[in-house]
Amino acid sequence: MPEANFDTSVNLSVESTSDDSSVDVVILGLHSDNSLSTSLADLDQQGNGCLTRLLESGQLRGNRGELSLLGFPCDSGPSMVLVVGLGDGSASRADAFEITASAVRSLLDRPRGCVEVRLIEDFSEEHHDAVVAGAITACEGQGLYRSEPPLKLPSEIAFPGLSQEQLDRGRIIGESINQTRRLVNEPAAVVYPESFAASVKELFADTATEVDVWDENRLADEGCRAILAVGAGSERPPRLVVLSHLCGDDEPPLVLVGKGVTFDSGGLSLKPSEGMVDMKCDMAGAATVVGVMRALAHLGIKKNVIGLCGLAENMVSGSSYKLGDVIKTRSGKTIEILNTDAEGRVVLADTLDVAIGYQPKAIVDLATLTGACLVALGRDVVGAMTNDVDLLKQIESAAGREGELMWQLPMFKHYDEQVKSQVADIKNIGDGRWGGAITAAKFLQNFVNDTPWVHLDIAGPAFADKAKPHCDAGATGVMVRSLLHWIESHE
Ligand code: BES
Ligand code: MN
Ligand code: ZN
Repeated sequence: MPEANFDTSVNLSVESTSDDSSVDVVILGLHSDNSLSTSLADLDQQGNGCLTRLLESGQLRGNRGELSLLGFPCDSGPSMVLVVGLGDGSASRADAFEITASAVRSLLDRPRGCVEVRLIEDFSEEHHDAVVAGAITACEGQGLYRSEPPLKLPSEIAFPGLSQEQLDRGRIIGESINQTRRLVNEPAAVVYPESFAASVKELFADTATEVDVWDENRLADEGCRAILAVGAGSERPPRLVVLSHLCGDDEPPLVLVGKGVTFDSGGLSLKPSEGMVDMKCDMAGAATVVGVMRALAHLGIKKNVIGLCGLAENMVSGSSYKLGDVIKTRSGKTIEILNTDAEGRVVLADTLDVAIGYQPKAIVDLATLTGACLVALGRDVVGAMTNDVDLLKQIESAAGREGELMWQLPMFKHYDEQVKSQVADIKNIGDGRWGGAITAAKFLQNFVNDTPWVHLDIAGPAFADKAKPHCDAGATGVMVRSLLHWIESHE
């Protein structure tokens, strides 16, 4: 593989380090009622009422997300002004993130000097970090191997009026989301179980987070036969990565579990090319766990949190696991394999069993688990399934705050029948394809016992086939922000 273009770190500052006349672009917010913020009014005055004239003639509008890039007709001051619509009503935290990201992203089509983000006054102080995080995620894209980098980063992004604390916090959150996205965007030739584990080691080397990597021998000693089975067809042996962030009191931890199938060919139940083409993204759950754990480490969050990444490559060879095989999982429960493409749940069976060993307060797993979840909820919505409504409410409220869309699917007892097997305790597919996201969750539920647990199926939103105004196509880093907030606010 060629070297990826990794030089995407942006130079951030609280006050612009350049003098006013060398600011290339100032980003300002405009409400749809045309009321001018202090910054906008100041600039308008400096430009002899040029902005008011555009507003009055209806050329400039504050519809949410609408962008107007204007030359600034004045010797002093910035060369250009980017007015971004804030819509009506009070701007939310999700707006702070997305609107800033859209504005910054729109400027990356050509090299620019200093970009000044004067949006701080438009959002309440507790959301100022989201402005910074949005700006940073805008600067990372999927063009890692383009000879001419498609995103031209400005030489500096300044946030006048921002506190250093919120700048640092926003930077950590934005970079953690980008870390998740980069792991997902890298091809499977670069990110495979061993190399994923090695990057995690390196990533946490200078933090208080402990990283333990279980290789194939340790997996065998631990009885992780399900993870080994999924990885058996690959030249690349499986791994389990254990991240321990133990910074809280003497209390049981929260555990995050991620599906880390570094490539999902389907195995012997081989996928057609259309279904396989994006399957480097099938480790997005594990990458999300890494992103959240990175943020916890760098923010110094005083909580006990364990992150588990179940890593395997699902391939086709003479040593692949087969249809009809019965696997005795780490928990002792046996599973009958009726489709080798339903491999994520098999990897998670052992990973969840490791999770319950911590006697955690709660487990949240993340997985690009089923195409059925996309059929049910579309591309942009996370499917949530649980055995504990109160826990789900906590996660929903965190996701609501961050503006990440999720929706609960039912876990009625009657679905249990569908994963029972004639040969083993359970089978790895339901009866037919109906309710496939739920029968997958029902399979997983067998491995969490009574531990409060939420399963997040991120098959849709983890990887986008089209760019959005605020985010490039490819990996999205969905749920990093929400889970971080859930953990921080957890009682
Ligand atoms: N990794 C896929 C699910 C997926 C599909 C993720 C589309 C992202 C986008 C998963 O391992 C899979 O193949 N699931 C099968 C399950 C089926 C065989 C029961 C599916 O959804 O078709
Ligand atoms: Mn699969
Ligand atoms: Zn998969």
